[in-house]
Amino acid sequence: MVLPTTQITYRLTSKSGIEAIKRFEEPLNTDLDAYEVLINIKAVALNYRDLIITTGEYPLPVGDNVIPISDASGVVVKVGAAVSDLQVGDRVITNCNPNHLYGPVKDFTNGLGNSQDGVLTQYRTFPHYGVTKLPKDSHLSHEEAASLVCAGVTAWNAIFGLKDHFTPGQSVLMLGTGGVSMISLILAKAAGAVTIITSSSDEKLQYIKEKYGVDYGINYRTHPDWEKEVMKVTNGEGVDLVIENGGNGTIAKSLASIKIGGQVSLIGFLSYVEEKPDVVGAVLMKSAILRGIAVGSKELSEQLVHFVHTKKLGMPVAKVFGFSEEQVYEAYASLKSQSEIGKVAIRID
Ligand SMILES: NC(=O)c1ccc[n+]([C@@H]2O[C@H](COP(=O)([O-])OP(=O)(O)OC[C@H]3O[C@@H](n4cnc5c(N)ncnc54)[C@H](OP(=O)(O)O)[C@@H]3O)[C@@H](O)[C@H]2O)c1
Repeated sequence: MVLPTTQITYRLTSKSGIEAIKRFEEPLNTDLDAYEVLINIKAVALNYRDLIITTGEYPLPVGDNVIPISDASGVVVKVGAAVSDLQVGDRVITNCNPNHLYGPVKDFTNGLGNSQDGVLTQYRTFPHYGVTKLPKDSHLSHEEAASLVCAGVTAWNAIFGLKDHFTPGQSVLMLGTGGVSMISLILAKAAGAVTIITSSSDEKLQYIKEKYGVDYGINYRTHPDWEKEVMKVTNGEGVDLVIENGGNGTIAKSLASIKIGGQVSLIGFLSYVEEKPDVVGAVLMKSAILRGIAVGSKELSEQLVHFVHTKKLGMPVAKVFGFSEEQVYEAYASLKSQSEIGKVAIRID
């Protein structure tokens, strides 16, 4: 295969917002160490973190002139001399932290798109163990596959990460209709859960009912006490699991929504209130499990890929943008607007 000598790469040139992402043409180094692989990136998916990385609000370190975005789907175009688990032509997805192979994450200094260069580029070298292989006959588009990386693995970890805790027939509550929530909905439904989702929009709830078959939708704007609605639809019992994306602004209501012995998977920080929520009292009174989720390991990524492949699940890609500077900005603006249901992606040509 003849590889180009240059490639188009985007870099975050300052922490002043989306416009600080600039397009460059750079030399492409195709020399590989023995255990490296070169990936031709075909699509990337955006996450909420990618927005706050551009503004300096992300809580983890962000390198100078870093290539943004962590989630990519691509094709192996070259392998190092000692690589035996991947071949040219294999489809792969990235892992948010390529060194996180199993168990809870211990090192937060390896994240793609913040600590080290990410994937908004045409080619990227990885250690062979730092990517997850897709099945040869994968039904997923590159945009769908890229959606599995952060939002997908996070959702998988949040539902199935605590071994033997989630069983079919249990109820799962998702907050909002962003990427993590929508993939959680798809996975939970496929695993036989009763599903409830909240949204600020009745139109979105209606769409999700029709397209994804969610069992119950609750508008958290018109029902600010949405935890009471959750109790109503669960016959006063509460849910088994909450996919907690709101953080400090929603945690008290999430804990009020679970049944005795239920679990809250603590993931995001989309909402904020000044008043400190009484988490300790609520966890004690509910004998609750409050579990922090930090994306997930390669082991979880492989489990997710297997499940999605076996069940032939589609991923909720709402909008796909192109690779021009204008289109990249539009993709970020679309994510920021929170107008879509699920994922925003960029196709790389
Ligand atoms: N811990 C981890 O490893 C991890 C991994 C991935 C993501 N995260 C975090 O998880 C959160 C969600 O990420 P994402 O990528 O799925 O975000 P996203 O796609 O940008 O989600 C945006 C959606 O969230 C909903 N939302 C916003 N404010 C809300 C609120 N106060 N209450 C309920 N829903 C609200 C809105 O849905 P409606 O329009 O329907 O109202 C909005 O469209 C973010 O904070 C992100 O940083 C953490």
